[in-house]
Amino acid sequence: MLVCRWHGMTLGPGGRPGWQPFPAHDDGVLAWVRLDGAGAPTEAPALGPRPAGPVVAAVATVVGRCEPADVVANRLDPWHGAWFHPYSFTALRVVSAPPPDAPDPEDRFLVEVTFTLGRRFGVPVRAEFSCPDARTVTMEIVGGEGAGSVVETHATPLGPGPDGRPRTAVIEAVVAHSDRPGFGHVRRVAGVLRPLMRGAARRLWRDDIAYAERRYALRSRT
Ligand SMILES: [Fe+2]
Repeated sequence: MLVCRWHGMTLGPGGRPGWQPFPAHDDGVLAWVRLDGAGAPTEAPALGPRPAGPVVAAVATVVGRCEPADVVANRLDPWHGAWFHPYSFTALRVVSAPPPDAPDPEDRFLVEVTFTLGRRFGVPVRAEFSCPDARTVTMEIVGGEGAGSVVETHATPLGPGPDGRPRTAVIEAVVAHSDRPGFGHVRRVAGVLRPLMRGAARRLWRDDIAYAERRYALRSRT
């Protein structure tokens, strides 16, 4: 049973006139609705790695005039962080060899990068990128500060906009984790942290969505 906290309307499994229920899934960070279309439906969305401990999670959404493939292409370009987002990343190195025990080595790559915090400080980490499904790219911190943390980028098609061109929502979940003893205190101020995390993700995606839109515009040029 679903209850609208605003209107008080209740919806059971059968819906009501004008309201059709869809299968839904709550993964703890994102709420999913299954809109059956192309491809065989699955019981639950394919999720990538998630931290196994306490987390602070924030979700940012940006909409672009492009197709999901343009968003995924941007996210799977491991080198662009250094020259496209110099305010956030430095000392970026793409480690060519995937981990030898990776189940799908062709879908994965490793990056060593330093997240910059202001002009004088940076946090070096090792991150692994993988794709749990065709429109999702996951970046997991596998070494360094915040190991286990995940940035999960979902490119969701929204259909055509008023101009007839496609719209794609980038829904990015930042799921931060740390084994440091003080992380419990950090979680208490999650309400303050979440807007900062969302703001950092939106700043990166302001640049990245321009990249995806340029890619789409060039491809659709007649
Ligand atoms: Fe980017």
